[in-house]
Amino acid sequence: MALTADARLSTGNPMLDRMLGGGFIKGRTYLVTGETGVGKTILSLQFLLNGLTSKETCVYVTIDERVEGVLRGAESLGWNFWAFMESGRFIPLELRLYAAEARKYGKESRAFVDAIFNATRGRRFSRLVLDPVSALAQGAKDEFYVREYLREIITMIEERFGVTTLMTTDIPTGSKRMSRFMLEEFLASGVIVLGVRQIGGRLVRTIFVRKMRWSSMDSTMYVFTIEPERGIVIHEPFDDYVKALGSPAAQAVER
Ligand SMILES: Nc1ncnc2c1ncn2[C@@H]1O[C@H](COP(=O)(O)OP(=O)(O)OP(=O)(O)O)[C@@H](O)[C@H]1O
Ligand SMILES: [Mg+2]
Repeated sequence: MALTADARLSTGNPMLDRMLGGGFIKGRTYLVTGETGVGKTILSLQFLLNGLTSKETCVYVTIDERVEGVLRGAESLGWNFWAFMESGRFIPLELRLYAAEARKYGKESRAFVDAIFNATRGRRFSRLVLDPVSALAQGAKDEFYVREYLREIITMIEERFGVTTLMTTDIPTGSKRMSRFMLEEFLASGVIVLGVRQIGGRLVRTIFVRKMRWSSMDSTMYVFTIEPERGIVIHEPFDDYVKALGSPAAQAVER
């Protein structure tokens, strides 16, 4: 069945849905990017929680962290993933496969997707998170193979599972790149960029949509906070926030 323009899935955040022109388009792959500690994992868990509370089956793949640590961290926000795990609708996986052996990338990407298929025992699921996809290719020497590896994984996931996927990718601190391999953003149908700015001694979290295929998007940069239960909460546009602080703070903004 052809997907209609209306086939959207909520990110779990009403404001982010609006910024994306109505949420994620079902069956596509999206990217959330930013330096370490900006909230990428929290945003991706919020996306899964939204599906779980709507009776969907969701898969969370951690690539360089222990699932337990992540789920315990989620508890600090009041999010209980264990109950969904017991009900069988939340399937967390730890996968460690590397593209370091460059020439095996074709085989390895298939093995990665097979591992997800085997762990879900062929069950249908609607949402998938790969966190962080950049870790898959850490240590690989040749960027060409890394690109082919990631491209194959994304294509196979879209074809095989038809699932809506959210990948996270880190950016080296201080880098102007949008993603680690400068490829993830081309493969994704949409990119959400999280950041932290220092303004007059305060750290302010920022969020904006960098790209959203087939949608009219709002590319304004907003301020957000991380709140218990609610997770990522988006507030006013960043420019308004700075103006409200007055001119000395505005001058201190690093652009
Ligand atoms: N219970 C909480 N209440 C408020 N803020 C929290 C809470 N738990 C974590 N945070 C904030 O969330 C941030 C970490 O978010 P998250 O783990 O999603 O980042 P990340 O982008 O995935 O980082 P990394 O690249 O290291 O994986 C921390 O900076 C912390 O300040
Ligand atoms: Mg993380």
